Amino acid sequence: MTQTIFPDDFLWGAATAAYQIEGSPLADGAGASIWQRFSHDPRLMAAKGDTGDVACDHYNRMPADVALMKELGLKAYRFSVNWGRVLPEGIGRVNEPGLDFYERLVDELLKNDIEPLLTLHHWDLPAALDDKGGWLNRDSADWFAEYGSVMYRRLDGRVKKWVTLNEPWVITDGGYLHGALAPGHRNLFETPIASHNLMRAHGRAVQAYRSEGAHEIGLVVNIEPKYPASDSAEDLAATARAHAYMNRQYLDPALKGSYPDELADVFGEAWPQWPVEDLKDICQPVDFIGINYYTRNVVRADPNQWPVGASPVRQVATHTTTDWEVYPPALTDMLIWFRDTYGDIPVYITENGAAFYDPPRAGPDGIDDPLRCDYLRTHISAIGDAIRQGVDVRGYMAWSLLDNLEWSLGFSKRFGIVHVDYETQVRTPKRSARFYSSVIAANGGNLG
Ligand code: BGC
Repeated sequence: MTQTIFPDDFLWGAATAAYQIEGSPLADGAGASIWQRFSHDPRLMAAKGDTGDVACDHYNRMPADVALMKELGLKAYRFSVNWGRVLPEGIGRVNEPGLDFYERLVDELLKNDIEPLLTLHHWDLPAALDDKGGWLNRDSADWFAEYGSVMYRRLDGRVKKWVTLNEPWVITDGGYLHGALAPGHRNLFETPIASHNLMRAHGRAVQAYRSEGAHEIGLVVNIEPKYPASDSAEDLAATARAHAYMNRQYLDPALKGSYPDELADVFGEAWPQWPVEDLKDICQPVDFIGINYYTRNVVRADPNQWPVGASPVRQVATHTTTDWEVYPPALTDMLIWFRDTYGDIPVYITENGAAFYDPPRAGPDGIDDPLRCDYLRTHISAIGDAIRQGVDVRGYMAWSLLDNLEWSLGFSKRFGIVHVDYETQVRTPKRSARFYSSVIAANGGNLG
């Protein structure tokens, strides 16, 4: 039976990020990023030897990749700009050839009727700015707004949907608390400072957009719903802390102008009193929120787990190769929670997908990836359930268009709906890509 739950103009797309796919990170005058440094440092990078030097070579293959998007029927493409290609020192001098790459990408997308969603920052902070303290420096908010303005001036006529930051939680938890991601710090005191400056940067970039741009701008966060393992007071409190730390730490200041009270428990003496003016700066009206959803988490209290005091309880369920539980109902629950908590703000699912094993080379029959097909089908259906319950979801971006560099885990995890043979750079749409094409063609009406 064909049901049409998805609005006619629902934006079906796929997402990528600059450092994960582009390659040529220093080409044509680009400045190095913190990921360039991190991936080349064997003391820091878990998948030693894997770097973004070549990755998917998208920098050189962009027109063919856009043709592939067209062939798959994508209506939108979410990508990020490598800040240091445009401003090699992060501020000041503009590098025209770097900017030109993104202009050509946008023009190629528009020529193919694919709507660009441009993310200003997906983790690759210019190394020159890290040398000045990076996100620990209060000036970072102004650096980011300056960079945003350069992009708006050049591209707002053609790009109608802008994203300030991708997943500030991952930047701070991975980059400043646990050191698993760039810039590789491990410091409880730095973590809330980096978070706060990222949010100030978001606020400033939105303010700059209002004076330069004429379309839409929003923030992308990752949300991992937290469910208590039991009804005990300890587990409930641990769940509230985990939820505040991972999910509300960014949405609350951006949309309500305050931080969750639980953060003072999580960070203890490392949690500062923030100036009220900063929160006013952060809480700027946005046109949409992008939510990246991959998995949920069942939580129990665990005083030994620093700093949140909560541990995940592994469920008997299908897990991906990143060991994430596959649990689509949490996507519906989360969208309803978002609407009930923050109001009727338009939402895009800006990332959703799964790493499952695929061979390094596609066989004559291509790549059959039934688990990924199932993941996409059940998660898109879960979004349909939320829309049926009145949540204003306007689009869905599969993560990822291409297999790519999964950050510190390197090329070992394949999230693509399109397979990449890293030796030959041959792209092969997996069965999941064909399945997703059929969903787009039917506007979600073939999901059953
Ligand atoms: C990030 C992507 C990443 C994906 C899978 C998200 O946290 O935005 O860059 O590859 O999840 O881990």
